[in-house]
Amino acid sequence: MNITSSSVAIITGASSGIGKSLALQLSAKGVSVVLVARRTELINELAEQIRANNGKALAITADVSVKSDAEMVVQKTLETFKTVDILINNAGRGNRASVEDTTQEMLDSIFGVNVYSLWYMTAAVLPTMKANRRGHIMNIASVAGKTGYPFNSAYVAAKHACVGFTSSLRTELVETGVEATVVCPAGVTTDWGAVTDGGPISDIFRGGIMKAKTIALERGVELPPLTGMISPDEAAEIMIRGIEAGSVSDIFTHQGSHEQSIALATDRASFEQKLLPLYLGMQQTYWGE
Ligand SMILES: NC(=O)c1ccc[n+]([C@@H]2O[C@H](COP(=O)([O-])OP(=O)(O)OC[C@H]3O[C@@H](n4cnc5c(N)ncnc54)[C@H](OP(=O)(O)O)[C@@H]3O)[C@@H](O)[C@H]2O)c1
Repeated sequence: MNITSSSVAIITGASSGIGKSLALQLSAKGVSVVLVARRTELINELAEQIRANNGKALAITADVSVKSDAEMVVQKTLETFKTVDILINNAGRGNRASVEDTTQEMLDSIFGVNVYSLWYMTAAVLPTMKANRRGHIMNIASVAGKTGYPFNSAYVAAKHACVGFTSSLRTELVETGVEATVVCPAGVTTDWGAVTDGGPISDIFRGGIMKAKTIALERGVELPPLTGMISPDEAAEIMIRGIEAGSVSDIFTHQGSHEQSIALATDRASFEQKLLPLYLGMQQTYWGE
């Protein structure tokens, strides 16, 4: 889709990380940006920074896992900017818990922000986008929307739901002028790994990777190279290029992720066997063995 200085974009989760980078990069292109998150101070500061650079920004405090909040965001956007062209469902949070340690509260919270918000926000923008016959809805999933990782099954299941939701949405929107894409990033250097329900999942990954090296050596197997991290600015650049490219489908931000998803779809068992030392390392780290 053409991004112009008359475009209006709603970005959820704009108070930090990828969402903040998306807001800054889109506003640098002249786009009017609507910054949505729960931390009012951070989105207000960002809005001021954008306005100081002659950009157009509206900060709205909202919890997108609450339907009335999501609807209020779209209503205020239309009141202020009269239209909406781009919706980036970026707000998200991970979790850290074995399947048996996953509480009802955690399930509700993780599915609320990563899954239910997609319906709430998307349903609220669709009437305008369909009437305009123009729009792009981008959902930020994860490589965890394609593959499993231990000890964050609620997040992994939620991001698989995000991928499924987007596939369904795309088929529903054919020939309406409204596009939908899903993005599957691997590691991005943001607060994400630290801000997860149940404690930092990054500790389990970090500990697991360290232990995996020893386990691989002991078992005489080779650990496949793990995907490197990218910055939120790099991730945002790729995402914006994805919107500009038009109706592409799944967007992978990291080298090797697309090939990994093909390998998984072809033979999940072989893929998992290669990563066995990592899973065992994460098991030892989680259970403190
Ligand atoms: N970083 C990674 O390695 C990575 C990899 C793959 C996918 N992702 C995905 O990328 C997206 C952005 O994450 P990030 O890496 O930029 O992490 P981040 O810096 O922690 O950003 C998460 C954003 O989501 C917002 N948020 C969380 N719960 C919310 C709610 N209920 N309502 C409104 N906003 C909410 C947070 O704002 P408030 O706390 O102010 O509400 C924050 O702005 C997420 O969907 C994440 O799952 C990240």
